[in-house]
Amino acid sequence: MSQPSFTARKTANVAQITTSCLVLPIFKGLKLKGDIAKLDTQMSGAITRAIELGDFTAEVGSSASLLGNDRVQRILLLGCGTAKEFDLRSSKKLAQAAGKSLAATKAREAHLALESLPLTPEDTSHLLETLATEVLWACYVYTETLSKPKNLPNLTKVSVAAIPELTLGKVRKALNAGVAIGEGVNFTRQLGNLPANICTPTYLSKQARALGRKHAKLSVSILDEKKMRELGMGSLLSVGHGSDEPSQLIVMEYKGGKAKDAPYALVGKGITFDTGGISLKPGGKMDEMKFDMGGASSVFGTVQAVVNLDLPINVVGIVAAAENMPSGRATKPGDVVTSMSGQTIEILNTDAEGRLVLCDALTYVGRYKPKEVVDIATLTGAIIVSLGHEASGIFANDDDLANALLAAGQRSHDRGWRMPIWQEYQKQLDSRFADMQNIGAGTAGSVTAACFLARFTEKYKWAHLDVAGTSFLSSPKGATGRPVPMLVEYLRGRAGQ
Ligand code: BES
Ligand code: MN
Ligand code: ZN
Repeated sequence: MSQPSFTARKTANVAQITTSCLVLPIFKGLKLKGDIAKLDTQMSGAITRAIELGDFTAEVGSSASLLGNDRVQRILLLGCGTAKEFDLRSSKKLAQAAGKSLAATKAREAHLALESLPLTPEDTSHLLETLATEVLWACYVYTETLSKPKNLPNLTKVSVAAIPELTLGKVRKALNAGVAIGEGVNFTRQLGNLPANICTPTYLSKQARALGRKHAKLSVSILDEKKMRELGMGSLLSVGHGSDEPSQLIVMEYKGGKAKDAPYALVGKGITFDTGGISLKPGGKMDEMKFDMGGASSVFGTVQAVVNLDLPINVVGIVAAAENMPSGRATKPGDVVTSMSGQTIEILNTDAEGRLVLCDALTYVGRYKPKEVVDIATLTGAIIVSLGHEASGIFANDDDLANALLAAGQRSHDRGWRMPIWQEYQKQLDSRFADMQNIGAGTAGSVTAACFLARFTEKYKWAHLDVAGTSFLSSPKGATGRPVPMLVEYLRGRAGQ
């Protein structure tokens, strides 16, 4: 995977620098000033004319590409809308437009000009961070299983210069943060996009080991099936029973805080392929069930970003990885298993397997006496009925944690929406043959799934993110990297940043 690098420069005068592509954010209704006005004059008024002719409206998310001269070969105008209406949504749309154009440009190098933006230093640095993330997002191309890679971007370098309102150090910090998040997001997308014959539970454990080798503050351990059996994880193990691929419980421990600080825990559903098991899914779009490890891949991407941001907190990332297959050894509807918590579960539908792997991972994470636990899972089709592909479902047994995730989602443009886990829904899980059954009675499917998990998380503050609608899309088909931005923002908040 090749990606452009970002560099911060001390100064750069747009009326003097040489670049193959100058990226200019332009606010609606504002007169061009200073060096940008000078540049316009040098270009015989090309920018002003693009605006006057209506070719460039400066509407948020709009863009226009102009041919320049020998010094500035191209100018990419980015619409920012009006200064009065500029908000988080604008910076996201603007950054996405920049990403799209820069991923498509023939230029190998670009310079982003920050001068004369009518923004506070905080807004400028947030915009810069978002830009870096979105440019990396747009430049990601899946090539792994293509004999001839296509649509590779040309861009290799983007530079940004300090301005009086934003010192070199601050520019560098914003770029580094944006890059760390962008790389985390793309790592998550790559794991999601890989086919299930490559991305198996064992492959995921190798990825974790490789990540651990790269970073001194990250240690990785893997629990194999034998170890899980000893721990009594009968629920998790029942899911992979029909598969030839051994299940894995992957544990990544990041120590950025004090040795005795309780960690924040992330727990990801890592079903590397979900056929439904004996409760077999219909054939249409079944290929998309390679994305059923989207929760797990978001734990990988978030842990990587946290390490690269060097956050001063402790984080433990756990991935419950298994493949859900039908076979002569597979779990059958009506089978009863015993979870690590001691609670028994009647498996009425083998396609409700995510909660079965998560419940044991959630019991296991209790050992760490975590400050807060967030699980992330492509858990239910029902959450797509409720929230579509816009918001991840947030369920929580703690209001402060739910609010922190909601706010982090707003700030990072990766939103969630809170859903209930009221006691009244719990009775749908009553079973005659076990302490509970693994499916509800047919209504509020994403809520009853969360209610199931809630029975294993009573000892700590916990939130569950149902990302079935947000972690991948059918068209264009692919992993999105969500909810890595939300999770990183949440952890930065907890780290006091
Ligand atoms: N992995 C699926 C949920 C899913 C569906 C994710 C569509 C992404 C897109 C999950 O394991 C599942 O099959 N859930 C069932 C639960 C039902 C059997 C109670 C579902 O949602 O239908
Ligand atoms: Mn399933
Ligand atoms: Zn599943």
